[in-house]
Amino acid sequence: MSVIPYNTDTISNEIHTEWAGKTVHFAKEIDSTNEWCKRLSKEDAVHGTLAVAEFQSAGKGRLGRRWVVPEGNSIMMSILLRPDFEPRFASMLTLVMGLSVAQAVKELGVDVSIKWPNDVVVSRKKICGILTEMGLEDGKIREVVIGVGINVNLAEIQEELKDKATSLYLETGKTYDRNFLIGLVMGKFEKNYEKFVQTCDLSLMIDDYNMMLANKCQPVRILDKLDPYEGVALGIDREGELLVRVADGRIRKVCSGEVSVRGLYSYV
Ligand code: BTN
Repeated sequence: MSVIPYNTDTISNEIHTEWAGKTVHFAKEIDSTNEWCKRLSKEDAVHGTLAVAEFQSAGKGRLGRRWVVPEGNSIMMSILLRPDFEPRFASMLTLVMGLSVAQAVKELGVDVSIKWPNDVVVSRKKICGILTEMGLEDGKIREVVIGVGINVNLAEIQEELKDKATSLYLETGKTYDRNFLIGLVMGKFEKNYEKFVQTCDLSLMIDDYNMMLANKCQPVRILDKLDPYEGVALGIDREGELLVRVADGRIRKVCSGEVSVRGLYSYV
Protein backbone atom coordinates (compact mmCIF):
# COMPACT_ATOMS: atom_id res chain seq x y z
CA MET A 1 0.00 0.00 0.00
CA SER A 2 1.21 3.48 -0.84
CA VAL A 3 2.61 5.49 2.12
CA ILE A 4 2.26 8.93 0.55
CA PRO A 5 -0.53 10.82 2.38
CA TYR A 6 -3.73 11.14 0.37
CA ASN A 7 -6.46 13.47 1.59
CA THR A 8 -8.27 16.72 0.78
CA ASP A 9 -5.22 18.88 1.54
CA THR A 10 -2.59 16.78 -0.19
CA ILE A 11 -4.77 16.64 -3.32
CA SER A 12 -5.69 20.35 -3.26
CA ASN A 13 -2.02 21.27 -2.88
CA GLU A 14 -1.28 19.70 -6.28
CA ILE A 15 -4.15 21.34 -8.17
CA HIS A 16 -3.13 24.60 -9.85
CA THR A 17 -6.14 25.40 -12.02
CA GLU A 18 -8.77 28.13 -12.34
CA TRP A 19 -11.80 25.90 -11.66
CA ALA A 20 -11.18 22.19 -12.31
CA GLY A 21 -10.77 20.54 -8.91
CA LYS A 22 -10.66 23.89 -7.09
CA THR A 23 -13.04 22.38 -4.52
CA VAL A 24 -12.00 18.90 -3.43
CA HIS A 25 -14.05 16.46 -1.38
CA PHE A 26 -12.25 13.37 -0.12
CA ALA A 27 -13.67 10.25 1.53
CA LYS A 28 -11.91 7.20 2.90
CA GLU A 29 -14.91 5.21 1.71
CA ILE A 30 -17.93 6.08 -0.40
CA ASP A 31 -20.43 4.13 -2.51
CA SER A 32 -19.31 5.64 -5.81
CA THR A 33 -17.68 9.02 -6.49
CA ASN A 34 -20.08 9.49 -9.43
CA GLU A 35 -23.06 9.05 -7.09
CA TRP A 36 -21.40 11.34 -4.55
CA CYS A 37 -20.97 14.04 -7.20
CA LYS A 38 -24.66 13.76 -8.11
CA ARG A 39 -25.57 14.29 -4.45
CA LEU A 40 -23.18 17.27 -4.26
CA SER A 41 -24.85 18.65 -7.37
CA LYS A 42 -28.21 18.63 -5.58
CA GLU A 43 -26.54 20.65 -2.81
CA ASP A 44 -25.53 23.26 -5.44
CA ALA A 45 -21.85 22.32 -5.62
CA VAL A 46 -19.96 24.47 -8.11
CA HIS A 47 -18.71 23.65 -11.60
CA GLY A 48 -15.40 21.80 -11.30
CA THR A 49 -16.05 20.25 -7.89
CA LEU A 50 -13.94 17.10 -7.51
CA ALA A 51 -14.88 14.08 -5.40
CA VAL A 52 -12.11 11.60 -4.61
CA ALA A 53 -12.32 8.34 -2.65
CA GLU A 54 -9.77 5.90 -1.32
CA PHE A 55 -12.31 3.08 -1.61
CA GLN A 56 -15.65 2.62 -3.38
CA SER A 57 -18.11 0.07 -2.02
CA ALA A 58 -20.29 0.28 -5.15
CA GLY A 59 -17.97 1.54 -7.88
CA LYS A 60 -19.62 1.64 -11.30
CA GLY A 61 -18.15 0.80 -14.68
CA ARG A 62 -19.63 1.27 -18.13
CA LEU A 63 -22.51 -0.83 -19.43
CA GLY A 64 -23.80 -1.53 -15.90
CA ARG A 65 -20.59 -3.30 -14.87
CA ARG A 66 -18.98 -2.90 -11.45
CA TRP A 67 -15.62 -1.19 -10.90
CA VAL A 68 -13.93 -3.07 -8.09
CA VAL A 69 -10.54 -1.85 -6.86
CA PRO A 70 -8.81 -2.40 -3.49
CA GLU A 71 -7.99 0.65 -1.39
CA GLY A 72 -4.61 2.33 -1.23
CA ASN A 73 -3.28 2.28 -4.76
CA SER A 74 -5.71 3.70 -7.27
CA ILE A 75 -7.30 6.97 -8.22
CA MET A 76 -11.08 6.97 -8.05
CA MET A 77 -12.46 10.43 -8.69
CA SER A 78 -15.34 12.27 -10.33
CA ILE A 79 -15.62 15.85 -11.50
CA LEU A 80 -18.91 17.75 -11.52
CA LEU A 81 -19.54 20.01 -14.51
CA ARG A 82 -22.33 22.47 -15.18
CA PRO A 83 -22.10 23.22 -18.87
CA ASP A 84 -24.37 25.62 -20.80
CA PHE A 85 -24.32 23.60 -24.01
CA GLU A 86 -27.01 21.25 -25.32
CA PRO A 87 -27.24 17.70 -23.90
CA ARG A 88 -26.34 16.11 -27.26
CA PHE A 89 -22.75 17.38 -26.96
CA ALA A 90 -22.06 15.93 -23.52
CA SER A 91 -20.95 12.43 -24.56
CA MET A 92 -17.86 13.93 -26.23
CA LEU A 93 -16.62 14.98 -22.79
CA THR A 94 -15.65 11.36 -22.19
CA LEU A 95 -13.13 11.68 -25.00
CA VAL A 96 -11.97 15.03 -23.64
CA MET A 97 -11.26 13.36 -20.29
CA GLY A 98 -9.61 10.33 -21.93
CA LEU A 99 -7.24 12.65 -23.78
CA SER A 100 -6.54 14.60 -20.58
CA VAL A 101 -5.67 11.47 -18.59
CA ALA A 102 -3.44 10.22 -21.42
CA GLN A 103 -1.63 13.56 -21.62
CA ALA A 104 -1.15 13.59 -17.84
CA VAL A 105 0.23 10.05 -17.77
CA LYS A 106 2.53 10.90 -20.68
CA GLU A 107 3.92 13.74 -18.60
CA LEU A 108 5.01 11.14 -16.04
CA GLY A 109 7.24 9.74 -18.78
CA VAL A 110 5.05 6.71 -19.51
CA ASP A 111 4.42 5.54 -23.07
CA VAL A 112 0.64 5.77 -23.12
CA SER A 113 -2.12 5.74 -25.71
CA ILE A 114 -5.90 5.88 -26.03
CA LYS A 115 -8.06 2.97 -27.05
CA TRP A 116 -11.01 4.71 -28.65
CA PRO A 117 -13.26 5.99 -27.31
CA ASN A 118 -11.98 6.42 -23.79
CA ASP A 119 -9.77 3.71 -22.34
CA VAL A 120 -6.26 4.85 -21.57
CA VAL A 121 -3.80 2.04 -22.25
CA VAL A 122 -0.17 1.21 -21.53
CA SER A 123 1.46 -1.76 -23.28
CA ARG A 124 -1.92 -2.39 -24.95
CA LYS A 125 -3.66 -2.94 -21.59
CA LYS A 126 -6.13 -0.65 -19.83
CA ILE A 127 -4.93 1.55 -16.96
CA CYS A 128 -7.91 3.89 -16.85
CA GLY A 129 -11.67 3.74 -17.32
CA ILE A 130 -14.06 6.67 -17.61
CA LEU A 131 -17.78 6.80 -16.89
CA THR A 132 -19.72 9.93 -17.84
CA GLU A 133 -23.25 10.50 -16.59
CA MET A 134 -25.62 13.38 -17.27
CA GLY A 135 -28.56 14.75 -15.29
CA LEU A 136 -31.23 16.81 -17.09
CA GLU A 137 -33.80 19.32 -15.88
CA ASP A 138 -36.44 20.77 -18.23
CA GLY A 139 -34.47 19.45 -21.19
CA LYS A 140 -31.30 21.26 -20.11
CA ILE A 141 -28.14 19.88 -18.53
CA ARG A 142 -28.28 20.09 -14.73
CA GLU A 143 -24.93 18.38 -14.36
CA VAL A 144 -22.42 16.18 -16.11
CA VAL A 145 -20.35 13.90 -13.89
CA ILE A 146 -17.18 12.38 -15.31
CA GLY A 147 -15.82 9.50 -13.23
CA VAL A 148 -12.24 8.41 -13.67
CA GLY A 149 -10.59 5.26 -12.34
CA ILE A 150 -6.81 5.01 -12.80
CA ASN A 151 -4.79 1.94 -11.83
CA VAL A 152 -1.76 3.71 -10.41
CA ASN A 153 0.24 1.64 -7.91
CA LEU A 154 -1.72 -1.63 -8.04
CA ALA A 155 0.72 -4.52 -7.69
CA GLU A 156 -1.76 -7.18 -8.73
CA ILE A 157 -4.60 -7.41 -11.22
CA GLN A 158 -7.58 -9.72 -10.73
CA GLU A 159 -6.99 -13.01 -12.56
CA GLU A 160 -9.92 -12.57 -14.98
CA LEU A 161 -8.71 -9.10 -16.05
CA LYS A 162 -5.00 -9.89 -16.44
CA ASP A 163 -5.00 -9.98 -20.24
CA LYS A 164 -6.86 -6.65 -20.50
CA ALA A 165 -5.83 -4.48 -17.55
CA THR A 166 -2.63 -3.28 -15.92
CA SER A 167 -1.32 -0.49 -13.68
CA LEU A 168 1.35 2.17 -14.03
CA TYR A 169 3.36 0.35 -11.35
CA LEU A 170 3.16 -3.02 -13.12
CA GLU A 171 4.30 -1.49 -16.40
CA THR A 172 7.11 0.74 -15.14
CA GLY A 173 8.16 -0.73 -11.78
CA LYS A 174 7.76 2.74 -10.27
CA THR A 175 5.24 4.05 -7.76
CA TYR A 176 3.55 7.37 -8.41
CA ASP A 177 2.15 10.10 -6.15
CA ARG A 178 -1.61 10.03 -6.75
CA ASN A 179 -1.96 13.63 -5.57
CA PHE A 180 0.44 14.79 -8.26
CA LEU A 181 -1.24 12.76 -10.98
CA ILE A 182 -4.68 14.15 -10.04
CA GLY A 183 -3.18 17.66 -10.29
CA LEU A 184 -1.83 16.87 -13.75
CA VAL A 185 -5.17 15.46 -14.94
CA MET A 186 -7.09 18.49 -13.65
CA GLY A 187 -4.69 20.86 -15.42
CA LYS A 188 -4.97 19.03 -18.73
CA PHE A 189 -8.73 18.64 -18.43
CA GLU A 190 -9.32 22.32 -17.73
CA LYS A 191 -7.34 23.31 -20.84
CA ASN A 192 -9.06 20.73 -23.06
CA TYR A 193 -12.53 21.56 -21.73
CA GLU A 194 -11.99 25.28 -22.45
CA LYS A 195 -11.14 24.32 -26.04
CA PHE A 196 -14.17 22.04 -26.26
CA VAL A 197 -16.70 24.69 -25.19
CA GLN A 198 -15.46 27.06 -27.90
CA THR A 199 -16.80 24.80 -30.64
CA CYS A 200 -18.84 22.09 -28.85
CA ASP A 201 -16.81 19.53 -30.72
CA LEU A 202 -13.29 18.12 -30.71
CA SER A 203 -11.91 20.15 -33.61
CA LEU A 204 -9.39 22.02 -31.44
CA MET A 205 -7.89 18.80 -30.03
CA ILE A 206 -8.43 16.30 -32.83
CA ASP A 207 -4.75 16.16 -33.75
CA ASP A 208 -3.70 15.70 -30.12
CA TYR A 209 -6.22 12.87 -29.77
CA ASN A 210 -5.28 11.11 -33.00
CA MET A 211 -1.59 11.33 -32.11
CA MET A 212 -2.32 9.23 -29.02
CA LEU A 213 -4.74 6.79 -30.64
CA ALA A 214 -3.61 3.20 -30.02
CA ASN A 215 -5.29 1.75 -33.09
CA LYS A 216 -4.32 4.43 -35.60
CA CYS A 217 -3.69 2.86 -39.02
CA GLN A 218 -4.16 -0.62 -37.51
CA PRO A 219 -6.68 -3.32 -38.33
CA VAL A 220 -9.65 -3.33 -35.98
CA ARG A 221 -12.80 -5.34 -35.51
CA ILE A 222 -16.00 -3.45 -34.83
CA LEU A 223 -18.07 -5.54 -32.44
CA ASP A 224 -21.50 -4.41 -33.57
CA LYS A 225 -24.03 -7.10 -32.55
CA LEU A 226 -26.09 -6.70 -35.72
CA ASP A 227 -23.35 -5.80 -38.16
CA PRO A 228 -19.79 -6.75 -37.04
CA TYR A 229 -17.05 -5.82 -39.49
CA GLU A 230 -13.31 -5.27 -39.86
CA GLY A 231 -11.30 -2.40 -41.25
CA VAL A 232 -8.42 -0.05 -40.61
CA ALA A 233 -8.84 2.69 -37.99
CA LEU A 234 -7.93 6.07 -39.46
CA GLY A 235 -8.58 8.37 -36.48
CA ILE A 236 -11.51 10.33 -35.06
CA ASP A 237 -13.51 13.12 -36.63
CA ARG A 238 -14.57 16.31 -34.87
CA GLU A 239 -17.65 14.60 -33.38
CA GLY A 240 -15.46 11.92 -31.85
CA GLU A 241 -16.60 9.16 -34.19
CA LEU A 242 -13.96 6.64 -35.23
CA LEU A 243 -13.33 6.57 -38.98
CA VAL A 244 -12.71 3.05 -40.27
CA ARG A 245 -11.72 2.17 -43.83
CA VAL A 246 -13.37 -1.09 -44.86
CA ALA A 247 -12.33 -3.57 -47.57
CA ASP A 248 -14.16 -1.88 -50.45
CA GLY A 249 -12.45 1.44 -49.64
CA ARG A 250 -15.51 3.06 -48.07
CA ILE A 251 -15.03 4.94 -44.81
CA ARG A 252 -17.47 4.02 -42.08
CA LYS A 253 -18.06 6.12 -38.98
CA VAL A 254 -18.30 4.32 -35.65
CA CYS A 255 -20.31 6.09 -33.01
CA SER A 256 -19.08 5.68 -29.41
CA GLY A 257 -21.53 4.06 -27.05
CA GLU A 258 -22.95 1.83 -29.77
CA VAL A 259 -20.16 -0.67 -30.24
CA SER A 260 -16.79 -1.87 -28.98
CA VAL A 261 -13.58 -1.90 -30.97
CA ARG A 262 -10.85 -4.52 -30.66
CA GLY A 263 -7.53 -5.07 -32.31
CA LEU A 264 -7.68 -8.13 -34.52
CA TYR A 265 -5.46 -10.14 -32.18
CA SER A 266 -5.82 -8.46 -28.77
CA TYR A 267 -7.85 -6.10 -26.62
CA VAL A 268 -6.35 -3.02 -28.32
C1 BTN B 1 -15.20 1.65 -17.31
O1 BTN B 1 -16.02 0.73 -17.24
O2 BTN B 1 -14.19 1.56 -18.00
C2 BTN B 1 -15.45 2.92 -16.56
C3 BTN B 1 -14.95 2.82 -15.15
C4 BTN B 1 -15.11 4.09 -14.35
C5 BTN B 1 -14.68 3.91 -12.92
C6 BTN B 1 -14.66 5.21 -12.16
S1 BTN B 1 -13.89 5.05 -10.58
C7 BTN B 1 -14.46 6.63 -10.13
C8 BTN B 1 -15.85 6.79 -10.69
N1 BTN B 1 -16.85 6.29 -9.75
C9 BTN B 1 -17.47 5.21 -10.20
O3 BTN B 1 -18.34 4.58 -9.58
N2 BTN B 1 -17.01 4.89 -11.42
C10 BTN B 1 -16.02 5.83 -11.88
